[in-house]
Amino acid sequence: MNRPQQHLITAARQAFLQHFGQMPTTLVQAPGRVNLMGEHTDYNDGYVLPCAINFGTVIAARRRDDAMVRVVAVDMDMAFDGFWLDETIKPLLDQAKQQWANYVRGMLRELQLLGLSFNGMELAITGDVPQGAGLSSSASLTVAVGQAVKSLFSIDTLDATQLAQAAQRAENNFVGCQCGIMDQLVSAHGKVGHAVLIDCRSLQTRQVLLADDVSVLVVHSRVARGLVDSEYNTRRKQCEAAARYFGVAALRDVNGEQVSAASGLDQMTMRRSRHVVTENQRAQEAAVALAQGDLRRMGELMAASHASMRDDFEITLPPIDELVAILGSAIGEMGGARMTGGGFGGCVVAVLPTAMVKAASDAVAAQYRAPHGESALVYVCVPSAGAGSLTL
Ligand code: GLA
Repeated sequence: MNRPQQHLITAARQAFLQHFGQMPTTLVQAPGRVNLMGEHTDYNDGYVLPCAINFGTVIAARRRDDAMVRVVAVDMDMAFDGFWLDETIKPLLDQAKQQWANYVRGMLRELQLLGLSFNGMELAITGDVPQGAGLSSSASLTVAVGQAVKSLFSIDTLDATQLAQAAQRAENNFVGCQCGIMDQLVSAHGKVGHAVLIDCRSLQTRQVLLADDVSVLVVHSRVARGLVDSEYNTRRKQCEAAARYFGVAALRDVNGEQVSAASGLDQMTMRRSRHVVTENQRAQEAAVALAQGDLRRMGELMAASHASMRDDFEITLPPIDELVAILGSAIGEMGGARMTGGGFGGCVVAVLPTAMVKAASDAVAAQYRAPHGESALVYVCVPSAGAGSLTL
């Protein structure tokens, strides 16, 4: 268990006892993630290099003998949801107020559709992944719900990849976000001290050990982002259109020369394709650079990735560009920074020598203000373990 999760464990246990009148029998966690390289490549069957972080969701749980599910969300003012597993689970309609419940409902529905058999349950959920920051609070929630079911009912047939796929379908089908598989896969497969290189076509994962003296800094710009309502689904459609133009299954199958030679492609689609093709290459190269402890190369790749997101994929915003520039000059050639996640706000990630964390944080505190005057929030992230049970 990651030490910072102790407060979540206490909160989940207390809420469970208070709300359901008895002690939980099971405690599980699933982490959020930060993506080090490979943005908007996952749904193009490409490569990504995220790591699970020491911020996540913790669920205290207990099985029931009937088919009733009762859920309390500690961080939503103890909001409650209840439904029956023997009636078709449907999404709640008020997406703004009840979205959290739809992630839970969606995950249970997807597990049912896999043919898994389980009874009702009581769940008390809490978490500390900043929401709307691009750190996958939603994947952390759905994967944690799946892990709770797995642990409560001793379901050994559901492996980490299948659990992640069910979580992705829950988000696609119940919440309406056509997200890729990266967030859920790394939440399920994360390993302490490692980033995970994922081939999003084969779903093979490779753990990449980070050197002891390297830190991952996540800096929240305080510019909130909205994934479902944002341009995310539009970008996805544009990439699918580009793949159709090239006559391939996904942009993963296209190389740089093909993009440059594609005279019939309109300028925007050409730039979208160029981002995906070059970003795929960068994700694979970044895995090598990190494994070799080559922070100088990692920094170059991060700078190129950010420029590509800004100019070709057009998913950054001016305050984010500014934050990346501030971190870039503070870190110099000893590492780098780039926006991370779906885009249009949220967080920047920096990879740098641990000895430079203070100087980089100080530079952000001194030089950056969000459009409404807020300072950025800085999190030193520890590459952490994927979903699993915790000791009660
Ligand atoms: C969001 C999605 C992921 C991925 C990233 C962009 O986090 O959930 O599947 O597409 O955006 O890389």
